[in-house]
Amino acid sequence: MRSPRADRPPRTGLPKAALALVVTTVLAGCATDHDDPVAGQSTDVPDEPVTITWQAAPFGNRGDDARVWLVEEFERLHPTIEVEVVSAPTNVDTNRAGLSTQIMGGSSTPDIYNGDVAWSAQMADAGLALPVDEYLPDDYFDGFDPAVVEAASYEGRTYGIPLTLDQAFLYYRTDLLEEHGLEPPTTWEVVAEQSRLLIDEGEVDHGIAYQGAAYEGLTAVTNEFVAAAGGGILDDALESPAIDDAPAHEAVEFMHGLGEEGLAPAGVSTFEEPESLQSFTNGQSAFLRNWAYAHATAEDPGMSEIAGDVGVTAMPAFEGQDTRASSVGGWNVYMNPHTENLGASLAFLTWITSPEIQAEMAERSSTVPTLDSVRESEEIRALSPVIAAAPDNDLVSRPTSTPHYTQVSQAVFSNVNAVLSGTEETGDALGEARGAVQSALDGRSL
Ligand code: GLC
Repeated sequence: MRSPRADRPPRTGLPKAALALVVTTVLAGCATDHDDPVAGQSTDVPDEPVTITWQAAPFGNRGDDARVWLVEEFERLHPTIEVEVVSAPTNVDTNRAGLSTQIMGGSSTPDIYNGDVAWSAQMADAGLALPVDEYLPDDYFDGFDPAVVEAASYEGRTYGIPLTLDQAFLYYRTDLLEEHGLEPPTTWEVVAEQSRLLIDEGEVDHGIAYQGAAYEGLTAVTNEFVAAAGGGILDDALESPAIDDAPAHEAVEFMHGLGEEGLAPAGVSTFEEPESLQSFTNGQSAFLRNWAYAHATAEDPGMSEIAGDVGVTAMPAFEGQDTRASSVGGWNVYMNPHTENLGASLAFLTWITSPEIQAEMAERSSTVPTLDSVRESEEIRALSPVIAAAPDNDLVSRPTSTPHYTQVSQAVFSNVNAVLSGTEETGDALGEARGAVQSALDGRSL
C-alpha cells in the first residue's frame, strides 16, 4: 500500500475572498450571516477534536470499500478529525433526492458528500453546494483535467473537487473468446454476433449485461448508444431535443433488439450497476457495459467467479461509424454550504483528491484519476487495464450543464425503459421523450 503524503501546509487565516465575506457580514449584519453560514469560519485544520460527516455511496472495488480505508488513513494522519461515514444509496437519483431534501431543509450535515459529475449545475443552482474554489488557492484546480473542472463548475464558480473520472468500458471473458478464436469486439454488431455464438455453444446464458433500469444509469447508456449512432440527446447547440431523430431511433431499436433476441438478460430493464456486474461476475453474461470500478471487482476472487478471465476494451462503435462512445461519468466531493466544520472539511476534501490518494484508489479500485499527472503516469497505466483502454474511448457528455438536467434525464430514461420492458414502441416512446425533454429545457416540468 502506498503511504499518503503529509497534509498540505495549514493555511494561515482566511483567504482574501473569505475575508471580504466577513467584512460584508459585519457591515450587513444578520441577513448576510444567514445567507452565508460559513462566513467567519477558519479554514485551518482544527486543534480541538471535531467530527465531520461524509455522505458517500459505496464506491471503488465493491469487495474493498474505499470509504473504510480512506477514513482510516485520513484519521491516522489527522488525529484531531474524526470522519463519520453516512452511507448513501447506490442508486444515484435516490442519493441526490435524499441529500437535496436534507440540505434544502438547512441541515449542517453531512459536511461533505460525494456527488455525481452530473449534479453540479443543479446543486449549485439550488444553493446545495458550497462554491469551494473560494477557500482554495487560485491554482488549486490547475492539475485536474480541464473538462472535469468545467463539469464541476457552474456560472464561473467551482463547486466540486473531482474525485474520480468515470468512463464506460466493454468487459469480456478472455477465456471464452480465446477458446472460440474470437477477437475482442469493436462494434456492437460483433458484440451481438459473438453473444449469439457463445449462447448457442452453451457457454453462457446471456450475451451483454448493462444498466437498463429507469434511472440515471440508463440515460448514460442511452447517451452513448445514441452518440455511437451519430446523434445525441440534444442537438449540437444543446438547445433542442434530438432524442426523436433518426440516430436515436436506430440506437434504441438496437437496444430493444438485444432484449428481444435474448442477447441481453431478460431482467435488463431492472438492472442498475450492481445487477449488471453480478450477471457478468457469476458467469451468466459474456459481456458487460459498466464503469471503471467494475474491473477491480470482477478481478477480485472474493467477489467474482470469473476472476483472472476478465478483459477490458473501449466501448464498441456501430458498423460504418467510428464513434466508440462512452458517457463521461465520475464523482466529485462537494461541501454542504451549511457546514459548521469548514477547516476540517477542507482538509478532508483536499486530502482525498491528492495525487497519492488518487494513485492508491486507481490501484485498489480501478478508478480513473482526475489529476492529469496521476492518470498519465507510466506506473498507473501499467497497473490499470482500464486506464490503458481509456484513450480508445470517445467521450460524450450528457447535457448536464442545464440546472434542469434531472428532468431531461428522467424524460430519457423513463421512455427508453418503457421500450426495454416492452410496454411502448420505440417511435411512440421517443416522441414522448422529445416532448418531455423540451418541457424540461423550458423549465416547465419542475
Ligand atoms: C456512475 C458514473 C456517474 C453516473 C452513474 C449512473 O456512478 O460515475 O457519472 O451518473 O454511474 O448510474
